[in-house]
Amino acid sequence: MHTFLRPTLRRPSLRRGALAALATAALTAGMLAGPTQADTTTTAASPDLSVDDATAHLQQLSSIAQANGGNRATGRPGYKASVDWVKATLDAAGYTTTVQQFSTSSGTSYNLLAEWPGGDANHVVMTGAHLDSISAGPGINDNGTGSAAVLEAALTWAEQGRTPRNKLRFAFWGAEEQGLLGSNHYMRNLATAEKDKIEVYLNFDMLGSVNPGYFVYDDNAAGDGVRDQITAYYDSKSIAWEYIDVQGRSDHASFRSYGIPTGGIFSGAEGTKTSAQAAKWGGTAGQPYDPCYHRACDTMSNVDRTAFDRNLDAVGHMVWLQADTTYGTPPTTEPPTTPPAGTNLLANPGFESGSTAWTASSGAITSSTNRPARTGTWKLWLGGNGRATSESGSQQVTIPANAANPVLSYWIRTDTAESGSTAYDTMKVQVVSGGTTTTLKTFSNVGTNATYTLNSHSLAAYKGKTITIKFVSSEDYYLQTSFVVDDTSVTAG
Ligand code: PHE
Ligand code: ZN
Ligand code: ZN
Repeated sequence: MHTFLRPTLRRPSLRRGALAALATAALTAGMLAGPTQADTTTTAASPDLSVDDATAHLQQLSSIAQANGGNRATGRPGYKASVDWVKATLDAAGYTTTVQQFSTSSGTSYNLLAEWPGGDANHVVMTGAHLDSISAGPGINDNGTGSAAVLEAALTWAEQGRTPRNKLRFAFWGAEEQGLLGSNHYMRNLATAEKDKIEVYLNFDMLGSVNPGYFVYDDNAAGDGVRDQITAYYDSKSIAWEYIDVQGRSDHASFRSYGIPTGGIFSGAEGTKTSAQAAKWGGTAGQPYDPCYHRACDTMSNVDRTAFDRNLDAVGHMVWLQADTTYGTPPTTEPPTTPPAGTNLLANPGFESGSTAWTASSGAITSSTNRPARTGTWKLWLGGNGRATSESGSQQVTIPANAANPVLSYWIRTDTAESGSTAYDTMKVQVVSGGTTTTLKTFSNVGTNATYTLNSHSLAAYKGKTITIKFVSSEDYYLQTSFVVDDTSVTAG
């Protein structure tokens, strides 16, 4: 019983109506945690992903194309067979996979998403590659290499059995060749809250061009750092690199358009290698990086093993690095400062007409100047007596059965003469419905806030019901706490 613990030297508090200055508690309104810069912890060394295993994945995709008319293109059976095989492989490794179907003018297509169990789902690290080919050929460099690298990274992660700090999500996109359709479809249909959880998207499209370049996406929206992580990796392996402006040419664009940091590497497509590039990278100046780009000859022999091996390890490095990157706590959502729009179903919501429409304890609806109203002069002042009292104010309201998002809102300011962390005095916000009382929120002398603050609660459970909204205080025998409510509303949404 807290009475025994209370100090004997408590000073009498001032009652409502007293003119002396009132003690107000220090504000304890939450300081909003600012976003913090990502920092990295190297809890796992970068893996040396097996180029033999990744090449076996390429061989598998090649066989799938051969068995399906020579390609893995959107709307053709070779694409679905590619999805089925990657899915089965990831399922067997312990991933949680999802196939997302969508339609295109070239036929039905599918995205495959795979998540590793564990890791903080509020911080998602996505790594993706398009799995479709053009219809002219099997698409082994474009984009068997990116697909095989992402798959091998996922499988090696699973083998190592570690729990990442962040949620790892791997994506295999459909219909990239038709204009980034799969990644666009995914993002367009992803809830805003889920988009917000994606910290980074890494894209891999063409990693083993036979006349290779080592291009790093020149994508460095303020503070990303992803681009710099990739170039630092190449530097550490003494691989010369160049930035490339890939604009909208691959699936990272579907993420970048929502402001998500992206990064990627690319060994070159139809572009021509310069003599300066041949000098630092080897290969043939004046020839395309990938002479079989979008052609039938983009087969197993259209992959440079050295370029593929180097880029495979860059993929592994980035996945491992990002898996354990510490992303700061996202900024706490600012408390709303406006109630929902719409007709206010409460009558006399700001108490300016005194007790009209309200059932309230005597004197609780007041124009006393000892506490400010938020607007006008009247408000509902519960408590503030410094003696054992219970006071309330309530109003009946009917929530329309077709209300989309019914919400109760009210502004409240609190102050107290109490101290410490024991709730001696309380004020409950309640809904009485059919004889059942539900408390939506309890305020107390702990954590008072003398600045009017908006509070909102869903009334979705009460659609079609006539309910009573009730604010009810309970003070103990000593030291006042004032709960001042103003500008209430119930909206149907
Ligand atoms: N997205 C292109 C394709 O699949 C290849 C590409 C990747 C081009 C990255 C530029 C940059 O055909
Ligand atoms: Zn292509
Ligand atoms: Zn491609």
